[in-house]
Amino acid sequence: MYNAKAYSAASATSPLKSSTIARREPTEHDVQMEILFCGICHSDLHQVRNEWSGVMPTVYPCVPGHEIVGRVTKVGSAVRKYKVGDLGAVGCLVDSDGTCPECKAGLEQFCPNLTLTYNFPDKHTGGVTYGGYSDSIVVDERFVLRVPTGLDLAGTAPLLCAGITTYSPMRHWGVTKGQKVGVVGLGGLGHMGVKFAHALGAHTVVFTTSPGKKEDALRLGADEVVISKNADEMAKHAGSFHFILDAVSADHDINAYIQLLRRDGNITLVGAPEKPLAVSAFGLLFGRKSLSGSPIGGIPETQEMLDFCGKNGITADVEVIPIQKVNEAYERLLKADVKYRFSIDMASLKAE
Ligand SMILES: NC(=O)c1ccc[n+]([C@@H]2O[C@H](COP(=O)([O-])OP(=O)(O)OC[C@H]3O[C@@H](n4cnc5c(N)ncnc54)[C@H](OP(=O)(O)O)[C@@H]3O)[C@@H](O)[C@H]2O)c1
Ligand SMILES: [Zn+2]
Ligand SMILES: [Zn+2]
Repeated sequence: MYNAKAYSAASATSPLKSSTIARREPTEHDVQMEILFCGICHSDLHQVRNEWSGVMPTVYPCVPGHEIVGRVTKVGSAVRKYKVGDLGAVGCLVDSDGTCPECKAGLEQFCPNLTLTYNFPDKHTGGVTYGGYSDSIVVDERFVLRVPTGLDLAGTAPLLCAGITTYSPMRHWGVTKGQKVGVVGLGGLGHMGVKFAHALGAHTVVFTTSPGKKEDALRLGADEVVISKNADEMAKHAGSFHFILDAVSADHDINAYIQLLRRDGNITLVGAPEKPLAVSAFGLLFGRKSLSGSPIGGIPETQEMLDFCGKNGITADVEVIPIQKVNEAYERLLKADVKYRFSIDMASLKAE
């Protein structure tokens, strides 16, 4: 084991602060990376504050962060894909059994024996995993992604969660040219959803509660923007969508969006609010509409998404911040005040 610098929360009500954590020395299959950038996902905030206590209670101290881009500093003797000096990326997954049907299908996100990047039992240390708000990380090479050349690294980090979480359901539900696709909530996930829907050729409509985001939404690739609090504007789109991606982090009326789906349309939840949402059965059954959810994505699809971004010049729009501003960033997330992802410049941790 060795000591790494990190920012951690000591309880659900404590701010994140500088601390030291123990990480494993790289085993023969491991890659050790110096972390360059780590995005701030709303899931980090949910978990730091134990808002998902019913599903995955937080173990403290908690070091969040699962949107990681770094440079390889050490590799184990059996590592083949990476060498010292390479760029690498790590998302929400750091391990899985590799043998179950899900893993064999490249759908590691559904493996019953997966390990998430933070706040998850760590098979190596016996404690919990620690995420990317840290100066380094050690990960099995199977879970290290290749960073396409030419992309801005601060804006690449958020692709590892916000990117794959929005790309995967759009691919699964066959979003394509000629379709009408909605994205609800223009935050970290939502703005990536807009970029992907646009790049896949769909007529893309953003639903936002923030009128001030209208111009940005159009610049990001939306064809239309609807202020969701305006019932008349909403009604104009009734029964017209093939697919809607709901990326809202808080309680909201999902029935208002189900009404906007056409026959056999689908709305997929990627947002994971603390409390359950109420769903009207009638909204779904008239029109045989479906409601589903989608978590992150598997390793092959995450690489496919990164390569797609490399080819199409897609990165997240980021506000780069030093780690010392992380608590302030969390408060701004709660006010839907981020344009459109915070990316932590991890060099700032050296000052601690
Ligand atoms: N499924 C997965 O695997 C997965 C992966 C990552 C994150 N998530 C979850 O996805 C959600 C979004 O994450 P994020 O990082 O994109 O968050 P974020 O950057 O904070 O964006 C959330 C957006 O939701 C909208 N919103 C916030 N409060 C709202 C309210 N009360 N009513 C209606 N709209 C509201 C806002 O957009 P407007 O200002 O445009 O209204 C806000 O910008 C979180 O719950 C997160 O935990 C899930
Ligand atoms: Zn995330
Ligand atoms: Zn498995």
